[in-house]
Amino acid sequence: MITQAIIPLAGLGTRMLPFSKVIPKELLPLGNVSILERILLECEDAGIKKIYLIISKKKEIIKKYFQDDLFLESKVKNQKSLIKKLNLLKKFKKKIKFIYQDTPKGLGDAVYKCRKLINSQHFLLILPDDIIINKNCSKQLIDIYKKKISSVIAVKNVKKNMVSRYGIAGYVKKKSNVLNINYLVEKPSLKLAPSTFAIIGRYILNKTIFKYLASSKKGKLGEIQITDALNKMLNDGEIFSGCVFSGKYLDCGTLNGYVKSLKLIGGR
Ligand code: G1P
Repeated sequence: MITQAIIPLAGLGTRMLPFSKVIPKELLPLGNVSILERILLECEDAGIKKIYLIISKKKEIIKKYFQDDLFLESKVKNQKSLIKKLNLLKKFKKKIKFIYQDTPKGLGDAVYKCRKLINSQHFLLILPDDIIINKNCSKQLIDIYKKKISSVIAVKNVKKNMVSRYGIAGYVKKKSNVLNINYLVEKPSLKLAPSTFAIIGRYILNKTIFKYLASSKKGKLGEIQITDALNKMLNDGEIFSGCVFSGKYLDCGTLNGYVKSLKLIGGR
Protein backbone atom coordinates (compact mmCIF):
# COMPACT_ATOMS: atom_id res chain seq x y z
CA MET A 1 0.00 0.00 0.00
CA ILE A 2 1.23 3.47 -0.83
CA THR A 3 0.09 5.74 2.01
CA GLN A 4 2.90 8.27 2.45
CA ALA A 5 3.82 11.11 0.09
CA ILE A 6 6.72 13.55 0.03
CA ILE A 7 6.21 16.95 -1.59
CA PRO A 8 9.36 19.13 -1.83
CA LEU A 9 8.57 22.85 -1.63
CA ALA A 10 11.84 24.34 -0.43
CA GLY A 11 13.26 25.22 -3.86
CA LEU A 12 14.13 28.83 -4.65
CA GLY A 13 11.69 29.05 -7.56
CA THR A 14 14.13 31.04 -9.71
CA ARG A 15 12.14 30.24 -12.87
CA MET A 16 9.24 32.17 -11.35
CA LEU A 17 11.12 35.33 -10.39
CA PRO A 18 10.35 38.04 -9.43
CA PHE A 19 7.06 36.73 -7.94
CA SER A 20 8.74 33.85 -6.10
CA LYS A 21 10.84 36.37 -4.15
CA VAL A 22 7.90 36.77 -1.78
CA ILE A 23 5.18 34.30 -2.83
CA PRO A 24 5.95 30.58 -2.88
CA LYS A 25 4.97 29.53 -6.39
CA GLU A 26 3.01 26.60 -4.95
CA LEU A 27 0.55 29.02 -3.34
CA LEU A 28 -0.26 30.76 -6.61
CA PRO A 29 -3.82 30.13 -7.74
CA LEU A 30 -4.60 27.79 -10.61
CA GLY A 31 -8.33 27.99 -11.23
CA ASN A 32 -10.25 28.10 -7.98
CA VAL A 33 -7.56 26.51 -5.77
CA SER A 34 -3.82 26.94 -5.29
CA ILE A 35 -1.28 24.79 -7.13
CA LEU A 36 -0.47 23.08 -3.82
CA GLU A 37 -4.11 22.25 -3.06
CA ARG A 38 -4.43 20.64 -6.48
CA ILE A 39 -1.53 18.36 -5.57
CA LEU A 40 -3.05 17.60 -2.15
CA LEU A 41 -6.40 16.76 -3.76
CA GLU A 42 -4.57 14.36 -6.09
CA CYS A 43 -2.91 12.71 -3.05
CA GLU A 44 -6.18 12.38 -1.21
CA ASP A 45 -7.92 10.83 -4.20
CA ALA A 46 -5.01 8.38 -4.53
CA GLY A 47 -5.48 7.17 -0.93
CA ILE A 48 -2.50 8.94 0.66
CA LYS A 49 -2.81 9.21 4.45
CA LYS A 50 0.34 11.13 5.44
CA ILE A 51 1.96 13.98 3.53
CA TYR A 52 5.42 15.43 4.22
CA LEU A 53 5.75 19.00 2.95
CA ILE A 54 9.40 20.02 2.76
CA ILE A 55 9.74 23.76 3.27
CA SER A 56 12.47 26.22 4.26
CA LYS A 57 12.50 29.05 6.81
CA LYS A 58 11.97 31.44 3.88
CA LYS A 59 8.81 29.57 2.87
CA GLU A 60 7.14 29.34 6.29
CA ILE A 61 4.19 31.20 4.85
CA ILE A 62 3.13 27.81 3.45
CA LYS A 63 2.73 26.62 7.03
CA LYS A 64 0.70 29.72 7.80
CA TYR A 65 -1.60 29.00 4.86
CA PHE A 66 -2.80 25.88 6.68
CA GLN A 67 -3.06 27.43 10.15
CA ASP A 68 -6.51 28.17 11.57
CA ASP A 69 -7.50 31.83 11.62
CA LEU A 70 -10.40 32.03 14.07
CA PHE A 71 -10.89 35.77 13.58
CA LEU A 72 -11.25 35.37 9.82
CA GLU A 73 -13.51 32.36 10.26
CA SER A 74 -15.80 34.35 12.53
CA LYS A 75 -15.96 37.16 9.95
CA VAL A 76 -17.11 34.86 7.13
CA LYS A 77 -19.07 32.34 9.21
CA ASN A 78 -22.27 32.95 7.23
CA GLN A 79 -20.64 32.58 3.82
CA LYS A 80 -20.84 28.88 3.14
CA SER A 81 -18.58 28.83 0.07
CA LEU A 82 -15.75 30.58 1.93
CA ILE A 83 -16.10 28.35 4.99
CA LYS A 84 -15.90 25.36 2.66
CA LYS A 85 -12.58 26.62 1.27
CA LEU A 86 -11.15 27.16 4.75
CA ASN A 87 -12.40 23.74 5.87
CA LEU A 88 -10.57 22.09 2.99
CA LEU A 89 -7.30 23.50 4.38
CA LYS A 90 -8.19 22.25 7.88
CA LYS A 91 -8.79 18.79 6.46
CA PHE A 92 -5.40 18.75 4.73
CA LYS A 93 -3.67 20.11 7.84
CA LYS A 94 -4.51 16.88 9.70
CA LYS A 95 -2.50 14.84 7.20
CA ILE A 96 0.46 17.19 6.81
CA LYS A 97 3.79 17.22 8.59
CA PHE A 98 6.27 20.02 7.79
CA ILE A 99 9.92 19.13 7.33
CA TYR A 100 12.68 21.70 6.90
CA GLN A 101 15.40 21.91 4.25
CA ASP A 102 17.12 25.18 5.01
CA THR A 103 19.89 25.08 2.41
CA PRO A 104 18.69 24.46 -1.14
CA LYS A 105 21.03 21.58 -1.94
CA GLY A 106 18.73 19.94 -4.48
CA LEU A 107 15.83 17.56 -4.81
CA GLY A 108 17.83 14.55 -3.66
CA ASP A 109 18.79 16.32 -0.44
CA ALA A 110 15.18 17.42 0.15
CA VAL A 111 13.88 13.86 -0.14
CA TYR A 112 16.70 12.61 2.12
CA LYS A 113 15.30 14.80 4.92
CA CYS A 114 12.36 12.35 5.18
CA ARG A 115 14.51 9.23 5.62
CA LYS A 116 13.35 8.57 9.19
CA LEU A 117 9.66 9.09 8.42
CA ILE A 118 8.95 6.60 5.67
CA ASN A 119 7.77 3.38 7.26
CA SER A 120 6.57 1.29 4.33
CA GLN A 121 8.79 -0.11 1.57
CA HIS A 122 7.54 2.29 -1.12
CA PHE A 123 6.32 5.89 -1.05
CA LEU A 124 5.03 8.53 -3.43
CA LEU A 125 7.08 11.59 -4.41
CA ILE A 126 5.28 14.47 -6.10
CA LEU A 127 6.91 17.58 -7.57
CA PRO A 128 4.41 20.42 -7.33
CA ASP A 129 5.70 22.22 -10.45
CA ASP A 130 4.06 19.49 -12.46
CA ILE A 131 0.29 19.60 -12.56
CA ILE A 132 -1.49 16.80 -14.35
CA ILE A 133 -5.20 17.24 -15.01
CA ASN A 134 -8.06 15.08 -16.34
CA LYS A 135 -6.71 11.84 -14.88
CA ASN A 136 -5.10 11.25 -11.47
CA CYS A 137 -1.46 10.49 -12.35
CA SER A 138 -0.52 9.29 -8.83
CA LYS A 139 -3.36 6.76 -9.02
CA GLN A 140 -2.15 5.59 -12.41
CA LEU A 141 1.34 5.02 -10.96
CA ILE A 142 -0.10 3.18 -7.97
CA ASP A 143 -2.03 0.86 -10.30
CA ILE A 144 1.19 -0.09 -12.11
CA TYR A 145 2.98 -0.46 -8.76
CA LYS A 146 0.31 -2.91 -7.57
CA LYS A 147 0.89 -5.13 -10.60
CA LYS A 148 4.70 -4.93 -10.72
CA ILE A 149 5.75 -4.11 -7.14
CA SER A 150 8.54 -2.04 -8.64
CA SER A 151 9.51 1.60 -8.57
CA VAL A 152 7.38 3.60 -11.03
CA ILE A 153 8.13 6.97 -12.62
CA ALA A 154 5.76 9.15 -14.65
CA VAL A 155 7.16 9.89 -18.12
CA LYS A 156 6.11 11.89 -21.13
CA ASN A 157 7.48 12.01 -24.65
CA VAL A 158 8.69 15.59 -25.13
CA LYS A 159 9.91 17.64 -28.08
CA LYS A 160 13.64 17.40 -28.81
CA ASN A 161 14.26 21.00 -27.82
CA MET A 162 12.86 20.28 -24.32
CA VAL A 163 15.06 17.27 -23.53
CA SER A 164 17.76 19.22 -21.68
CA ARG A 165 15.15 20.71 -19.28
CA TYR A 166 14.20 17.32 -17.78
CA GLY A 167 15.47 14.08 -16.35
CA ILE A 168 15.34 11.59 -19.24
CA ALA A 169 14.53 7.87 -19.16
CA GLY A 170 16.12 5.34 -21.50
CA TYR A 171 14.13 2.13 -21.96
CA VAL A 172 14.29 -1.30 -23.53
CA LYS A 173 10.71 -2.31 -24.11
CA LYS A 174 7.44 -0.46 -24.30
CA LYS A 175 4.24 -2.38 -23.58
CA SER A 176 1.12 -0.21 -23.99
CA ASN A 177 1.75 2.67 -21.56
CA VAL A 178 4.59 1.06 -19.55
CA LEU A 179 8.32 1.37 -20.28
CA ASN A 180 11.05 -0.88 -18.88
CA ILE A 181 13.50 1.80 -17.86
CA ASN A 182 17.21 0.96 -18.21
CA TYR A 183 18.86 4.37 -17.75
CA LEU A 184 18.04 7.64 -16.02
CA VAL A 185 19.98 10.83 -16.62
CA GLU A 186 19.38 14.38 -15.41
CA LYS A 187 19.03 17.15 -18.02
CA PRO A 188 21.23 15.64 -20.75
CA SER A 189 22.04 17.35 -24.02
CA LEU A 190 19.98 15.96 -26.91
CA LYS A 191 23.10 14.22 -28.17
CA LEU A 192 23.57 12.30 -24.91
CA ALA A 193 19.87 11.64 -24.22
CA PRO A 194 18.88 7.96 -24.40
CA SER A 195 15.32 8.87 -25.53
CA THR A 196 12.91 11.78 -25.52
CA PHE A 197 10.87 10.41 -22.59
CA ALA A 198 11.04 13.01 -19.82
CA ILE A 199 10.56 12.33 -16.13
CA ILE A 200 7.54 14.27 -14.94
CA GLY A 201 7.18 14.87 -11.20
CA ARG A 202 5.46 11.71 -9.95
CA TYR A 203 7.48 8.81 -8.57
CA ILE A 204 6.80 5.69 -6.52
CA LEU A 205 10.10 4.87 -4.92
CA ASN A 206 11.63 2.10 -2.86
CA LYS A 207 12.88 3.45 0.45
CA THR A 208 16.29 1.97 -0.35
CA ILE A 209 16.71 5.32 -2.18
CA PHE A 210 17.76 6.85 1.17
CA LYS A 211 20.84 4.63 1.28
CA TYR A 212 21.84 5.90 -2.17
CA LEU A 213 21.09 9.52 -1.30
CA ALA A 214 23.28 9.24 1.81
CA SER A 215 26.37 8.88 -0.38
CA SER A 216 25.23 11.06 -3.31
CA LYS A 217 27.60 13.70 -4.65
CA LYS A 218 26.61 16.96 -6.30
CA GLY A 219 25.43 16.47 -9.88
CA LYS A 220 23.89 18.78 -12.51
CA LEU A 221 23.66 22.44 -11.42
CA GLY A 222 25.83 21.62 -8.40
CA GLU A 223 22.87 19.98 -6.62
CA ILE A 224 22.18 16.53 -5.18
CA GLN A 225 20.04 15.14 -7.98
CA ILE A 226 17.54 12.39 -7.24
CA THR A 227 17.91 11.14 -10.83
CA ASP A 228 21.57 10.23 -10.18
CA ALA A 229 20.62 8.18 -7.11
CA LEU A 230 17.80 6.47 -9.03
CA ASN A 231 20.18 5.53 -11.83
CA LYS A 232 22.55 3.95 -9.28
CA MET A 233 19.64 1.92 -7.86
CA LEU A 234 18.78 0.82 -11.39
CA ASN A 235 22.36 -0.32 -11.98
CA ASP A 236 22.15 -2.35 -8.76
CA GLY A 237 19.08 -4.21 -10.04
CA GLU A 238 16.05 -2.18 -8.87
CA ILE A 239 13.27 -2.39 -11.44
CA PHE A 240 11.88 0.92 -12.69
CA SER A 241 8.70 1.09 -14.74
CA GLY A 242 7.93 4.23 -16.69
CA CYS A 243 4.26 5.17 -16.76
CA VAL A 244 3.31 7.11 -19.89
CA PHE A 245 0.46 8.81 -18.05
CA SER A 246 -2.73 9.76 -19.82
CA GLY A 247 -3.67 13.05 -18.12
CA LYS A 248 -2.73 16.46 -19.50
CA TYR A 249 0.56 17.89 -18.22
CA LEU A 250 0.78 21.54 -17.21
CA ASP A 251 4.23 22.95 -16.51
CA CYS A 252 3.71 25.30 -13.56
CA GLY A 253 7.39 25.67 -12.76
CA THR A 254 8.13 28.41 -15.28
CA LEU A 255 6.38 31.73 -15.68
CA ASN A 256 5.47 31.00 -19.30
CA GLY A 257 4.13 27.57 -18.44
CA TYR A 258 2.16 28.94 -15.49
CA VAL A 259 0.52 31.65 -17.58
CA LYS A 260 -0.44 29.08 -20.25
CA SER A 261 -1.84 26.78 -17.54
CA LEU A 262 -3.90 29.61 -16.06
CA LYS A 263 -5.47 30.29 -19.45
CA LEU A 264 -6.25 26.64 -20.00
CA ILE A 265 -7.76 26.01 -16.56
CA GLY A 266 -9.79 29.23 -16.41
CA GLY A 267 -12.11 29.10 -13.40
CA ARG A 268 -12.06 25.29 -12.99
C1 G1P B 1 13.07 17.95 -11.59
C2 G1P B 1 13.81 16.63 -11.78
C3 G1P B 1 13.78 16.23 -13.26
C4 G1P B 1 12.35 16.18 -13.76
C5 G1P B 1 11.66 17.52 -13.50
C6 G1P B 1 10.19 17.43 -13.84
O1 G1P B 1 13.82 18.97 -12.23
O2 G1P B 1 15.12 16.75 -11.31
O3 G1P B 1 14.39 14.97 -13.42
O4 G1P B 1 12.35 15.88 -15.14
O5 G1P B 1 11.76 17.89 -12.12
O6 G1P B 1 9.57 18.65 -13.69
P1 G1P B 1 13.57 20.54 -11.90
O7 G1P B 1 12.23 20.88 -12.51
O8 G1P B 1 13.55 20.66 -10.42
O9 G1P B 1 14.69 21.27 -12.57
